[in-house]
Amino acid sequence: MQARNLIDLADMSRGDLEEIIRLAGMIRQNPAIFTDACHGKIMATLFYEPSTRTQMSFQTAMLRLGGKVIGFDDPSNASVAKGESLKDTIRVVSGYADLIVMRNPVEGSALAASLYSKSPIVNAGDGGHLHPTQTLTDLVTLWYEKGTLEGLTIGLCGDMKNGRTVHSLVKTLSKYKGNRFVMISTPQLQMPPYILEILQENGCAYSFADSLESAIADLDVLYMTRIQQERFASAEEYEAQKGVFVLDEAKMRLAKSDLVVLHPLPRVDEITVGVDEDPRAKYFEQAEYGMYARMALIITMLQSRRDAVPETPRWDDARCCQNPRCVTNTEPYVPHRFYEKGGKAVCRYCDSPLDA
Ligand code: NCD
Repeated sequence: MQARNLIDLADMSRGDLEEIIRLAGMIRQNPAIFTDACHGKIMATLFYEPSTRTQMSFQTAMLRLGGKVIGFDDPSNASVAKGESLKDTIRVVSGYADLIVMRNPVEGSALAASLYSKSPIVNAGDGGHLHPTQTLTDLVTLWYEKGTLEGLTIGLCGDMKNGRTVHSLVKTLSKYKGNRFVMISTPQLQMPPYILEILQENGCAYSFADSLESAIADLDVLYMTRIQQERFASAEEYEAQKGVFVLDEAKMRLAKSDLVVLHPLPRVDEITVGVDEDPRAKYFEQAEYGMYARMALIITMLQSRRDAVPETPRWDDARCCQNPRCVTNTEPYVPHRFYEKGGKAVCRYCDSPLDA
């Protein structure tokens, strides 16, 4: 793998992705061969936001590879509670650990962390922005449960706006030939414009639907998501959106016999428990594939070089990102950076366009 960090799955080539999928499959088949693969290595998990699967699957993955794990899962127990900056925490922890896995509620925080780290950084979710290792999990699951990543009609249901898992998934699967996307959501929770632009650039067909009943019969894959309560500005806005899309046994009767139902979990009420017994429901298997995907990722990333502290970036842009959830607004020392797209300046950290 060329890139040193995993901030966005676009950091990996298609060859890198396929290598990880293959390695995850080998580990799943024959875990005993890999029990010492990371002997003597230390991984830090810095979780500033709640997590069950992502954190525990990373930790289990490292332990099953013979490595060790340090970290925190409650920032109120770490120095951030005393006002320590992200930069200082990362600078220090990267002196202790060979690999840093970080989840943080601030958009663009993983990219910012990578500017100050001696060790490779893995983005385990940066606010509502991206979640590349969930997408690796999803690709591994699709490959072994569906046999292909191409030519699929993929329904995405729930919170497209704030769901970082669907952002990373669509960005990646839109590069594979013949995939079509059906986005099943309310107008308020539809996909951000920058993701729709990526679909257009990759020549991918996509459509919108406002009910599961109307969309489900055409689907090869149904990716359910939770309404992301913690990203809403008010309780009223959340109440208005919750419980709109619920997958139940009656809707499953309308679906293809080889549909695969995925969900990154946690589930709240968007899939009834009756669906769990349906052989097309693969979300618990998906969580287990996530551990193998992360074992393969850890092995791959520990082959990257461990540098001296990267030089303080010389670039800085006088313009400021207007997204209040962007790391350039919460960690004021982070140098501003923009890229141009469709005649607009777009923030390199959170992908929000600057209003002209
Ligand atoms: C997701 C997340 O944290 O973004 N969960 C996960 O990592 N498995 C989805 C969610 O929280 O709804």
